Amino acid sequence: MNMKSKTLQITVVVLSVIAVIAACSEASSNDKETKKDDISTIRKKEKDELIARGKYLVTIALCHDCHSPKIMTAQGPILDSSRLLSGFPVENGIPTLSSALAKDQNWVKMSQDVTAFAGPWGMSFAANLTPDEATGIGNWTEQVFIKTLRTGKHLGQEGGRPVMPPMPWEMVSKMTDEDLSSVYTYLMSLPAINNRVPAPIPPNEIKITKQ
Ligand code: HEC
Repeated sequence: MNMKSKTLQITVVVLSVIAVIAACSEASSNDKETKKDDISTIRKKEKDELIARGKYLVTIALCHDCHSPKIMTAQGPILDSSRLLSGFPVENGIPTLSSALAKDQNWVKMSQDVTAFAGPWGMSFAANLTPDEATGIGNWTEQVFIKTLRTGKHLGQEGGRPVMPPMPWEMVSKMTDEDLSSVYTYLMSLPAINNRVPAPIPPNEIKITKQ
């Protein structure tokens, strides 16, 4: 074999090695992309499953009963589907009690739409559970959400004010971490509704009208 053909042979070998390496690295980068796609599809599927489970739990655990504004009909209140879970509607104004109602301490009172309540603890208003950052739970982390419902303390803060009746946090606190996580994920997927629900009013500050 002469010098020239030997050089040619080496060149061919080197080139084909380069071609093989290039092909491999291309295949592996394609592979990576497929994997990335797979992971985001799986994540989306997992999130969709959490949202669906959260929606189911919120429905059967009766959160709408108190937290969704309603439209009154002759047959009773129905959910206002345009603003689900946005809490006591602020445009209703702070409710007052007639002096007769205020005097009657045997009953707990509630507004027709079941979003405002008065009893020995004062007056309380169902919170806005939509992801609005200023007035809802938009700024709450999942941890804060779970801690609030486990401890019955506002924003889950130790020494914080108690979450008022009739919020049934003791019962809700029995949900598993997974369930509470699904409920949180569902609530955070709702349309954000700006509705600043008033803070609870102490008993002696409830406005009482003459009649
Ligand atoms: C019987 C009525 C009622 C039901 C049912 C109810 N809530 Fe509430 N919830 C309230 C009231 C009233 C408040 C406001 C309490 C306060 O201001 O301290 C509240 C407050 C909250 C808060 C805010 C607590 C805070 O720290 O500000 C969260 C979160 C919450 N509820 C979640 C839920 C979820 C989730 C469900 C269903 C699993 C649910 N609630 C069912 C009445 C209810």
